[in-house]
Amino acid sequence: MSRIAVVPGSFDPVTLGHLDVIDRAAGMFDELHVLVVHNPGKTALLPVAQRVSLIERAVADAGIGGDVRVTSWSVGLLVDYCTEVGASVLVKGIRSQVDVAYETPMAIVNRNLAGVETVFLLPDPAHAHVSSSLVRQVASLGGDVAPYVPPAVAELLATPRDGSRS
Ligand code: PNS
Repeated sequence: MSRIAVVPGSFDPVTLGHLDVIDRAAGMFDELHVLVVHNPGKTALLPVAQRVSLIERAVADAGIGGDVRVTSWSVGLLVDYCTEVGASVLVKGIRSQVDVAYETPMAIVNRNLAGVETVFLLPDPAHAHVSSSLVRQVASLGGDVAPYVPPAVAELLATPRDGSRS
């Protein structure tokens, strides 16, 4: 039986920390779904489709091997997606006690809802301080985000945009 896992997140935008988790998780499972979850409660910087294509490009550029599939989900529970694709595990990166406090209740609820387990990976220390929200803030104030994100994302955020939101 193949082991299928899902790495869910907003990925707005994908960071080197996310990529590290994706790379390591790809080596642990037969099939890995990187799932861009649309959160209607959050004001997004990038449209969902663009987040998906940036992750696809970053995974290819980084030479991440294995069966990695990038897609998006906006309807219903995260565990509904897991059930649909036969995934039994969620993979999340944990950078701090704040992340533990945020992720723990979700892990318990997801397990109760559908028996889906959550595996937490500690970050490579090089990326322990990196978050999408920090990247968005630095980029919006004209700072260089290249040390924190894949090259395609750095290129995009360095280019003046029209201010559109999704
Ligand atoms: O990158 P983020 O914003 O921290 O990702 C959060 C995400 C998308 C993983 C989280 O909001 C989520 O799991 N959303 C799915 C909604 C859901 O299934 N909720 C009920 C169980 S927690």
